[in-house]
Amino acid sequence: MIFVTGGAGFIGSNFILDWLRAPNAEPILNIDKLTYAGNPYNLSSVADDPRYAFVQADICDELAMSTLLSRYRPRAILHFAAESHVDRSIHSPDEFIRTNVNGTFNLLNKSLSYWQALPQQDQADFRFLHVSTDEVYGSLEPDDPPFSETTPYAPNSPYSASKAASDHLVRAYHHTYGLPTLTTNCSNNYGPYHFPEKLIPLVISNALAGNPLPIYGDGQQIRDWLYVSDHCAAIRAVLARGQAGQTYNIGGWNEQANLHVVHTLCDTLDELQPRAQGSYRELITFVKDRPGHDRRYAIDARKLERELGWKPAESFESGIRKTVQWYLANGDWVAQIRSGAYLNWLQQQYGDHPAGAMP
Ligand code: NAD
Ligand code: DAU
Repeated sequence: MIFVTGGAGFIGSNFILDWLRAPNAEPILNIDKLTYAGNPYNLSSVADDPRYAFVQADICDELAMSTLLSRYRPRAILHFAAESHVDRSIHSPDEFIRTNVNGTFNLLNKSLSYWQALPQQDQADFRFLHVSTDEVYGSLEPDDPPFSETTPYAPNSPYSASKAASDHLVRAYHHTYGLPTLTTNCSNNYGPYHFPEKLIPLVISNALAGNPLPIYGDGQQIRDWLYVSDHCAAIRAVLARGQAGQTYNIGGWNEQANLHVVHTLCDTLDELQPRAQGSYRELITFVKDRPGHDRRYAIDARKLERELGWKPAESFESGIRKTVQWYLANGDWVAQIRSGAYLNWLQQQYGDHPAGAMP
């Protein structure tokens, strides 16, 4: 069995669905607190699969984590659970420190005690795979080479600082105690089940509702976009063939300026679901910039390609098209997401500003 933390979130639920598509897949226990970002509905298609089980628990809960480990005896822990949204970390960083730093620390401690008591062969086979981000490396200038595994850490937001702290703890648990860890640092993901607070799903859902499409600052910030199933495939490759103690950067060589991303989304929507009049581009609204906004991220994924033979399957164009098609076919998911805590947070963040308003 493997443990997945945060499996009800965007990447975790895509990972579980992809994993269980293999007929001989090992069973999964999904451990998720179900914060505003956790949606068990994402996994309704596997809820009755005997290879899948779900426990609602907080990774900061010491008793819950040690009980689950001794009861289910996993051969690997895939740690996705985190507070993940940069804007939220700017407004209220506390939860980011609690979950991303203290939660990872607790999970490492409990995993170490569990691992130390395993028979020798099981110790050798065990893996703690920590899912992290390219944001730990900070921001690139236009002519800088992409982030490699040896780029020094320079996190700029409370979110990226909390992820950097968790990466350092993971590294230290390998170096000091020999816990067989793996860390992946991935660029921006997009695809199905992406919570509509992040740029791509926010733009699609606002466009379909006829609401403004908010672009922070001048829209020339660059992100390196990767379709989520390519990230999932990379994690499977690192779990299967990665070397304990190593870190692997994951990215699709897909640098795009935010404004270009939003134009592409508008043009794809114009083609697949035209407005009664005009283009979706007319909804674009430039708004106040994010404080401390990183200008450019780019990933050098050559280590992963060379050592583990991974390559992304989707191009930016094919991935964006699939994503827009998924949102068009899954209006009920978006409607469900738009109820509850998310609305309250949007109200607090934007007040009556139309850019943040949900229908
Ligand atoms: P998400 O916000 O969509 O999901 C996070 C999940 O973690 C939710 O299901 C939430 O309920 C759960 N969770 C939060 N706090 C918890 C706690 N204390 N205990 C148990 N569960 C808790 O995030 P995501 O976008 O799917 O990101 C998953 C991981 O990948 C994160 O670690 C993130 O830093 C990393 N990452 C994300 C991206 C991206 O583009 N989204 C890119 C690189 C790395
Ligand atoms: O790089 C990996 C990271 O990518 C992950 O670690 C994070 O968990 C994930 O949220 C994502 O962070 P970003 O801050 O890059 O993603 P976001 O979708 O919030 O923003 C993408 C870009 O779009 C960023 O430059 C800010 C901009 N933006 C975002 C929103 C929500 C806008 O211009 N308007 C918006 O409304």
